[in-house]
Amino acid sequence: MTIKIDKDKRIFHLQTNTTSYLLQANEQGHLLHLYWGEKLETTFLDYYVSEIQRASYIADADGIPEYKLERLPVEYPSFGHPDLRSPAMTLKHRDGSRISDFRYVDYEVMKGHVAVSGQPCLTDEKAETLVITLMDAYQKLTMKQYYTVFVESDVMTRKVELVNEGSETVLIEQLNSACVELPHMNYDLVHLSGKWARERHLHRAPLTQNRQTVATRRGQSSHEHDPFIALVTPETTETTGEVYAMRLVYSGDYSATVDVDMQEALRLQIGLNPEQFEWNLKAGQSFITPEAVLVYTNGGLGKMGQVFQNTAQKHVVRGNFQYKERPVLINSWEAFYFDLKEKELLEFAKEAKELGVELFVLDDGWFGKRDDDSSSLGDWFVDKRKFPNGLRPFRDQIKDLGLQFGLWVEPEMVSPDSELFRAHPDWALEVTGRLRSLSRKQYVLDLTNPEVRDYLVNTFINLFKEVGVDYVKWDFNRSLTEAGSNYLPEEQQGEVYHRYVLGLYEIVEKITSAFPDVLFENCAGGGGRFDLGMTYYMPQTWTSDDTDAIERLAIQQGTSYLYPNASMGCHVSASPNHQNGRVTSLKTRGIVAMQGNFGYELDITNLTEEEKTEIKEQIALYKEIRPTVQFGTFTHLPTIEQDNAYAWQHADDRLVVVGYTQILSKANSPSKRLRLAGLPKQGRYKQKGTDKVYYGDELMRVGLQVERVTHDFYAQQWILEKQ
Ligand code: DGJ
Repeated sequence: MTIKIDKDKRIFHLQTNTTSYLLQANEQGHLLHLYWGEKLETTFLDYYVSEIQRASYIADADGIPEYKLERLPVEYPSFGHPDLRSPAMTLKHRDGSRISDFRYVDYEVMKGHVAVSGQPCLTDEKAETLVITLMDAYQKLTMKQYYTVFVESDVMTRKVELVNEGSETVLIEQLNSACVELPHMNYDLVHLSGKWARERHLHRAPLTQNRQTVATRRGQSSHEHDPFIALVTPETTETTGEVYAMRLVYSGDYSATVDVDMQEALRLQIGLNPEQFEWNLKAGQSFITPEAVLVYTNGGLGKMGQVFQNTAQKHVVRGNFQYKERPVLINSWEAFYFDLKEKELLEFAKEAKELGVELFVLDDGWFGKRDDDSSSLGDWFVDKRKFPNGLRPFRDQIKDLGLQFGLWVEPEMVSPDSELFRAHPDWALEVTGRLRSLSRKQYVLDLTNPEVRDYLVNTFINLFKEVGVDYVKWDFNRSLTEAGSNYLPEEQQGEVYHRYVLGLYEIVEKITSAFPDVLFENCAGGGGRFDLGMTYYMPQTWTSDDTDAIERLAIQQGTSYLYPNASMGCHVSASPNHQNGRVTSLKTRGIVAMQGNFGYELDITNLTEEEKTEIKEQIALYKEIRPTVQFGTFTHLPTIEQDNAYAWQHADDRLVVVGYTQILSKANSPSKRLRLAGLPKQGRYKQKGTDKVYYGDELMRVGLQVERVTHDFYAQQWILEKQ
């Protein structure tokens, strides 16, 4: 049983294989948090709340002397009644007040996860869900707190539903998906932040008595911060120590906060970003938040990464591609940019086929009159100047070569210079009377408008059918500004950001489910909308527009704490690199790209014979190691070079694949060995291409010898075959 209940004391104990989470509805009906951490076998901690000691200068609750809510670990707090710490919800009532007071009503245990139509979530019929119902009797509002336990995966999800049982509209100003209170502040805050071409770098800093926020206001989960936050004990490392982590299954504006209060306890929360969010909850209606994912481990950041990778692969990615090996692709973007010429593209594809590539992707520039980024988004018909016979005949020629055919689109956008915009200027987001700002010379379509959504669904279903695609790259190249809707009434303008995301989910659900055998790759100027929401619909994502192997090291390391390697697009591109001019060897570029979902993005028609041979060998090798890289267990390996080197390992029952990249070489540096992890001690492994055979324990304790590093941007790879 994963949910144990002491009915008399109203204590709920949720268990996964290695963790426990406890909460209690006390005599006053307040829902309190008792514990989250390493698994407790049987206890219900019924003494815990009464033993809490905190100082005073706080109000009594319910008129009971010394019953102080602000001293107690409230599970899902509101503000001012009389707790004055940071709330998880803010509801503005008709009387103008923002006081809410929810008390326990009852509970229910359900089989499986809770699916909400039109919203992504973690799925598993074997999961178990605890639903706790609370009520604000004065305002006639019911609240359901959902806790779903995925025992084997060591993960739990939370979400909140609010039902308006009264007769007046309630304005939801904030409704977080999860809030957890921890009794002290002796933690470091960990988050994954960056910018365009520099996504998901790991940051860590100690907490102080204040609020720290990881958030986006861009209308997309963003390059800036991943919807993820974690607290780790100061001694936590990659391989040891406690981690409390939360993520949001959402693709729009979110905020994750940690507040250290004046008692030095803390609240860790995640949910929709209240700065851009408002929702009119009319009488009889209900609102349900995006889902939060909670992971606790005492196995360090590396273990957290494995739990998140496994969770996303097993419970978020769906459909025919969930465990299907992904093809080696070649993308036209960095080879041609907008300058597409059919004849040259066919030569390029022919060469790609000879090298072993499996999927050809026609990126931006094939439609309307798109010779640069200044026009044509919205005009999703082929540019006959570039493809005189149309796209289908071009696709047929690619297929005749024995390649799959993939197509780039950017459905959510419109160029002012497009037939679509001229016909429907009101379809782009805008605040009437204000300037509509351009970004990459384009506007964002108003996905809150059902007419726009229907148009997009029909347009892209028809396009993908007509062309006969095997793969789609779905791009999104600007953030939302002046996000007002011509469709929604005045009082609902505060709902635009969230309704945009719900509109997007409706579109991608309809389009992706119409093509179960088409592989969809999510993209937003690289990894600007790499999140669990999009991963639910599209099993892979273009990780970053930065294709430099060296800058990719930190990006891919950060990304692999949260997302499966099969979902992480990694391409070998040209040297000097187009983003930063760095010169690296083909070997290094290949080894780094083999950390994830492998492909190429450079002009292969200009290669030397040696380079062609090397690429052929890389592709052949990748096909051999692909199941292990894409679906094996992934581990970051510590190196004595610290930030000057990155090492990683993919392992399954068949192979262990190890990569090492050192950024700068150093004269007279110590001899280095690389210790592997998580292998069976007595397992026998033969190193491919040599006669060397190792036991698992040797590999983990003594390690592999790193070659002498003779130049900057150096890389080495080992393939170990299980005997
Ligand atoms: C941004 C993407 O990240 C690139 O890979 C490429 O598809 C361009 N957009 C095309 O405009």
